[in-house]
Amino acid sequence: MNLAVLGAQWGDEGKGKIVDLLTPRFDIVARYQGGHNAGHTVYVNGTKFVLRLIPSGILHAGIVCVIGNGLVVDPQALFAEVDELARGGIDVTSRLFVSDKAHLILPYHRDLDLLSEARRGERKIGTTSRGIGPAYEDKIGRRGIRVGDLADRKALEQNVRDNVLARNRLVHDSTMNWQSVLDQLVLIGQRLQPMVRDVSLMLAEAQRAGKTILFEGAQGTLLDIDHGTYPYVTSSNASIGGVCTGLGVGPRAIGAVMGVVKAYTTRVGEGPLPTELTGDMGNRLRDSGNEYGAVTGRPRRCGWYDAVAVRYGVRINGLDALALTKLDVLDGLEHIEICTAYRCGSKTLTEFPSDITQLAACQPVYERIPGWSTPTKGVRRFAELPENARRYIARLEQVSGVPAALVSTGSERDDTILREDVLASKIADFRLKI
Ligand code: GDP
Ligand code: IMO
Ligand code: MG
Repeated sequence: MNLAVLGAQWGDEGKGKIVDLLTPRFDIVARYQGGHNAGHTVYVNGTKFVLRLIPSGILHAGIVCVIGNGLVVDPQALFAEVDELARGGIDVTSRLFVSDKAHLILPYHRDLDLLSEARRGERKIGTTSRGIGPAYEDKIGRRGIRVGDLADRKALEQNVRDNVLARNRLVHDSTMNWQSVLDQLVLIGQRLQPMVRDVSLMLAEAQRAGKTILFEGAQGTLLDIDHGTYPYVTSSNASIGGVCTGLGVGPRAIGAVMGVVKAYTTRVGEGPLPTELTGDMGNRLRDSGNEYGAVTGRPRRCGWYDAVAVRYGVRINGLDALALTKLDVLDGLEHIEICTAYRCGSKTLTEFPSDITQLAACQPVYERIPGWSTPTKGVRRFAELPENARRYIARLEQVSGVPAALVSTGSERDDTILREDVLASKIADFRLKI
């Protein structure tokens, strides 16, 4: 059975760790959207790896990793990542593939990202400035350049010239030279060529041969272009729908869906965050959780667990189970709050508002849960968690509407509690070998 693992909050939930941990149960790990705005951290025996474009399954020898058509690929970033992995002893040759239909991020996309943010001024999105939005704009505007286009020199030249000249008109004082962009792309095409595949066909053939796929999401449901807190979102479908469109697989290929959530909430960039804590407690969560962006190093905004937002993620993605991460960050707190509803004027809302203005006006309604003093850090068996930590998890499951099949208690691969009973009941056929 295939499994999708995606973020059910505002990104950085710990997807990289969970995907890496589950990878040995699958044959292929496939990313379906986003680009190198993602930063998925995996620790293996004290060594840190940050995966941006390459699926987080790559650290396991022999696993095939796929970059789907739904991504926007900055080839320089991809090559840098391949080289970095090679320096760490990880060879990706003959097991990393890129869809011919994936769109390219070109140098002018980065310029336009910065320009667009500067123009928005106070209303900026707080993007990762990687050119993600402008590359997706070109895709939707039907002028994008795709990985497969690198094989057709003549058409490529025409497209590059048109696009660069159009961008020069848009970006004041820009004199970008289309010929040098083209020359670079020709070299890029040569290096990329052995990795290029019809990914949809490749996945169909693999499934016919009995192979299984782990679909890896980037960003999170509340950053989804359609279902997130628009306009403070990324430019792709981070939620479950992205799997089908971003890889060319049918809905029944998905199997089960696991939503990764932190035991609290974080967000990087602008936009509403109802449970945000700006005082000492926010700083405490940021320090203990080391909440600084894996890509940009920006401090992440921190707050309590928002069950209204997670329930929304359960609905949008049809989640079967949660993977609850960073429980250890709450160690030592006297009490913990869970947001179970929002107060908005005279109304109490239990469903995540569709209207962002209303969301921004919402105040969290909290339920206070006693904390625990015995550390959970590194605990690997559910029964060994302090009683109050188990109570906290039980309450999170209740208010979120789905059980936690995994509980993560540290950044290392093995600092994880696997709840076999939940996995077996919620995710049929999903037998953990670990
Ligand atoms: P992703 O983008 O969803 O893959 O998440 P990031 O890698 O951006 O951020 C998650 C951070 O939390 C990384 O630094 C992980 O190493 C770390 N992490 C993951 N799970 C745990 C956990 O259970 N406890 C602690 N303390 N850190 C964790
Ligand atoms: P992972 O996969 C958290 C946020 C940015 C910004 C908004 C738009 O590591 O969870 P973009 O550059 O995509 O146009 O920025 O989305 N953002 C993320 N926040 N984790 C991510 O990825 C993110 N990728 C983008 O901070 O608010
Ligand atoms: Mg991240």
